[in-house]
Amino acid sequence: MKTALITGLTGQDGSYLAELLLEKDYKVYGMVRRSSSFNTSRIDHILSDSHTPEIRLFREYGDLSDSSNISRVIERIKPDEIYNLGAQSHVRVSFDIPEYTADVNGIGVLRVLDAIRDTRIQTRFYQASSSELFGDAPAPQNENTNFQPRSPYAISKLFGYWTTVNYREAYNIFACNGILFNHESPRRGGTFVTRKITRGMVRIKLGQLDCLYMGNMNAQRDWGYAKDFMEGIWSMLQQNTPDDFVLATGETHTVREFAETVAGFLDIDLVWKGSGIEEIGIDNKTGKTIIRIDPFFFRPTEVNLLQGDYSKAKRILGWEPKISFKELVRIMVEADYNDVKKGTNANV
Ligand code: NAP
Ligand code: GDD
Repeated sequence: MKTALITGLTGQDGSYLAELLLEKDYKVYGMVRRSSSFNTSRIDHILSDSHTPEIRLFREYGDLSDSSNISRVIERIKPDEIYNLGAQSHVRVSFDIPEYTADVNGIGVLRVLDAIRDTRIQTRFYQASSSELFGDAPAPQNENTNFQPRSPYAISKLFGYWTTVNYREAYNIFACNGILFNHESPRRGGTFVTRKITRGMVRIKLGQLDCLYMGNMNAQRDWGYAKDFMEGIWSMLQQNTPDDFVLATGETHTVREFAETVAGFLDIDLVWKGSGIEEIGIDNKTGKTIIRIDPFFFRPTEVNLLQGDYSKAKRILGWEPKISFKELVRIMVEADYNDVKKGTNANV
């Protein structure tokens, strides 16, 4: 039985990856941050406890800003595979807390790789790199595109990306970067744009919210389904040689199109009026304004267009996304509709 360690276990990707590895019969350990409140809602259904000893997912308290715990855990578990998914992952927030973001997302990668180097264990390492690295670079972006980062988040990920490449070349560590374009799901955090829109428009439909306040509606993203992408990152660590891969869908849509697609599934007739910060979205049946622009959500520097070329992953890993843009939106709207109706608060 293989053993894996996941940092960022409690996040969207960590929870799906843990499920995937358990299905593949791994023993899985996950780093969980010490918190004064419960932060395991995405993994409670698969976390081992004294009542469910048959489940092979175990929590290890730790933090990417603390190298001592990282080394100890790696030395004790001796994982066959390490997936470094932990991060301060919000781009807008990285402008508010740039130093913390650099420490966790940048130096955190160095801490994990250096623990592998120090302990000399034989393991395979995955780094959660990001399409944010491409920033202003023209689309479509692939492994040969120059990085032009546009945020403290992207710059911290750039450090992590190159540290991964350097430890592969300098110390012969099996280390891979997955350069993942945006991927979403019903487990997406509530402040990322897709989930904010699905949740918000469901609440508008059900009379719980009057209006949704948004940022840049013109930004374009290549949105895929998180579960599909976890298959791809697992596959990277099963190859004979370590390498870096883009995972994407190859399609791009504006934030405005995302909102229109959500409206379609909720039978809301959404029409737009005005432009710039005066733009509003109106529910044509009720005449009510349900979307407004709030400059608070603008970023000091924005990434305008992301569209990935995943042909290398297709050729070498045999990986392709399975869920289309429309299907992704449907899955998210349906999950939020059921959740809001029940009055629960799943992974927001
Ligand atoms: P997410 O839902 O925000 O999850 C982030 C995880 O990192 C959470 O488990 C969080 O713990 C943990 N974390 C935060 N600070 C930490 C620290 N100091 N030490 C240890 N763990 C810490 O993010 P995601 O969408 O699953 O993304 C997973 C990874 O892929 C991230 O590195 C992200 O930057 C990268 N990425 C994501 C996308 C995407 O579209 N989703 C695309 C490209 C790359 P708490 O639960 O305690 O907050
Ligand atoms: N969050 C947010 N909230 N974004 C908004 C809003 C809003 O109200 N209105 C418009 N946007 C725009 C943002 O300006 C951005 O252009 C786009 O919607 C997507 O924003 P996010 O969903 O926050 O994602 P992101 O693209 O900045 O970053 C995500 O994807 C990266 C991969 O490209 C995160 O998951 C990163 O961790 C990941 O690396």
